[in-house]
Amino acid sequence: MDDLRAKYIDLIAAADSEAALEELRVAAVGKKGEISLKMRELGKMSAEERQVAGPALNALKDEINSALAAKKAALADAALEERLKGEWLDVTLPGRPRRMGTIHPISQVMDEVTAIFADMGFSVAEGPQIDSDWYNFDALNIPGHHPARAEMDTFYMHRAEGDNRPPHVLRTHTSPVQIRHMEAHGAPCRIIAPGRVYRADYDQTHTPMFHQVEGLAIDRDISMANLKWVLEEFVKAYFEVDNVELRFRASHFPFTEPSAEVDIQCSWDGGVLKVGEGSDWLEILGSGMVHPQVLQNSGVDPDEWQGFAFGMGIDRIAMLKYGIPDLRAFFESDLRWLRHYGFAALDMPTLQGGLSR
Ligand code: DAH
Repeated sequence: MDDLRAKYIDLIAAADSEAALEELRVAAVGKKGEISLKMRELGKMSAEERQVAGPALNALKDEINSALAAKKAALADAALEERLKGEWLDVTLPGRPRRMGTIHPISQVMDEVTAIFADMGFSVAEGPQIDSDWYNFDALNIPGHHPARAEMDTFYMHRAEGDNRPPHVLRTHTSPVQIRHMEAHGAPCRIIAPGRVYRADYDQTHTPMFHQVEGLAIDRDISMANLKWVLEEFVKAYFEVDNVELRFRASHFPFTEPSAEVDIQCSWDGGVLKVGEGSDWLEILGSGMVHPQVLQNSGVDPDEWQGFAFGMGIDRIAMLKYGIPDLRAFFESDLRWLRHYGFAALDMPTLQGGLSR
């Protein structure tokens, strides 16, 4: 019996799987197991012998069964331990940032422009994208026969049969916001009006929908000198350069008198645009002193008030600053383009924090 005990206790201790344990159980205490066979021999024994051997065999059977159970539990623990090791996870690691969308370059530039002009005391005004021809043309001193109307490739809204009123238009520029703002708030005022505009035109530098920002500053003594300073400050801040020459070229717009188109100094050395150096010029906006008739049309007395206005293409200055060659790609919603040219979300441009970093 001692040999049996020693044999099975050793074998159980050495077993390395549940299957091996089960084999040992069958061999020791199964129906035909060694201990079970020994128990059958009890019948052939004398009563005295049986009295000794019976309890001893039962005790051995119990001992083997508990050794089997203990070993089984130990194997299960070891297996769990092994699995936990494989699945170990450092919960103190930082999270993986989830990819968010990007800020479209147009939105980015609008935010940059707004931050710069806000710093100079301009607030943001808005107007409708579908406007009457009064606001888009007449009030801005562009009468029906004026060539500027034809030049603008205007989209006209559909009119109901028998409706002879002039049709509404998709605004061709942001200038009508000047009229609406002065009409509603009078003078003095200092606003910019960024937004969408529409013209029937499509090539590498024109899309039927594009963006402009209008500027308007009216007070009692505002002059071209103020316009020049404001635009210089803007261009330096926007292109993030310390110095840049501006060139004011005499021009004509129906809504300003005098009018000037503004070019910025730049170089194209090696095919890369650099603003603020070199001897080339790049046109970026139209401007001038608001025409007295326009003030009058907006309910502002031109004998008391005067000021400047300007209009600038947002898409164009976005292309210039961020080296984007084709305007049409702006509005194709190609995710690869957006990931390449887009800006980090939650990264608002500010003058203190940096406009574009
Ligand atoms: N509205 C003009 C355009 O779309 C741009 C412009 C020129 C706006 C001169 C102005 C200005 O306010 O003074 O081409």
